[in-house]
Amino acid sequence: MKDQIKKSQDPENDSMKITVTKNGPYIATGGVPIVVAEICNDNEGYCRTWKIVDRYPVREECALCRCGHSENRPFCDGTHAKTRFNGTETAGNEPYLSHPEIIRGPELELTDYHELCVHARFCMRAGGIWNLTEQSGIPEARDTAIEEACNCPSGRLVIRDRRSEELVEPVLEKSIVVIEYPAKGEHGPLWVRGEIPVVSADGKPYTVRNRVTLCRCGKSHNKPFCDGSHVQH
Ligand code: SF4
Ligand code: FES
Repeated sequence: MKDQIKKSQDPENDSMKITVTKNGPYIATGGVPIVVAEICNDNEGYCRTWKIVDRYPVREECALCRCGHSENRPFCDGTHAKTRFNGTETAGNEPYLSHPEIIRGPELELTDYHELCVHARFCMRAGGIWNLTEQSGIPEARDTAIEEACNCPSGRLVIRDRRSEELVEPVLEKSIVVIEYPAKGEHGPLWVRGEIPVVSADGKPYTVRNRVTLCRCGKSHNKPFCDGSHVQH
């Protein structure tokens, strides 16, 4: 778990960027690796690990579908123009991020940004991360809470070590991970990892975070970010 207590840093790759285009795809520049990963369940059916199943050849620039209708996903094939995709960005930069729920346990503090959940469901095992945080005086509960927070792709769940006051963030390869969840037949969002900047179609930068998830089904009400709308209830 020790390596998870460091912050992600990769100064050599800071030319990478993702730009949202108006009613069109995301343009990833700077040679961002594009990887496909599946959510794997444990024997009890809880989401437990990530398995990388594919890597695309690295290109200086590529266009990634955000309307959900490309025949060449995860890449854009121009279908958004024919379907008149409305990709209006509705995520303000900050307001909801400034009102997270804070849960304090003896060892850990959990910051929970509800609106960012993409329903990847890593946080539900062993009684759930909220209970585990409250029981974080127990080493096993503490370790499981950290593992669950670090597996959360969207960055909804962020853990702080109350002794050191440091955030406990996973070290993530700068990359875009195309999330697939075969057990549920779900095609999840694009998981942007390692503090790659995301810029809106009108040139405004969103807050840079170690983990963010971008909508790729076209249905999110918090575009460009995923709000879990791809999950059929
Ligand atoms: S995105 Fe994070 S908070 Fe939402 S279900 Fe997945 S692990 Fe839990
Ligand atoms: S954004 Fe171009 S096909 Fe989906």
